[in-house]
Amino acid sequence: MPKITFLKTGETHEVEAGTSFLDHCQSNNAPADFGCTVGSCGTCCVVITEGADQVNAPDDEELETVEMATGEEGARLGCRLVVNGDISVRPADR
Ligand code: FES
Repeated sequence: MPKITFLKTGETHEVEAGTSFLDHCQSNNAPADFGCTVGSCGTCCVVITEGADQVNAPDDEELETVEMATGEEGARLGCRLVVNGDISVRPADR
């Protein structure tokens, strides 16, 4: 099963392939922050330090929100991620 490593705390969670990062985090009290949960506020911006190719590709709306929320190259919205393989994430700089 895919693993999510939360670099903020060092904890690792196993998930089914195709799991929504948002749903998993909210159901399991994972160390990730969310606001609107619908892709518009940028609170959930993360950087995937390993396994960036193991999640869904961003759409234009996500890219716009990321650009507004952080200057970090390649950041993603946690509330829009679908986890298909092992990833490591940390909060994006704001
Ligand atoms: S929680 Fe608002 S953009 Fe993800």
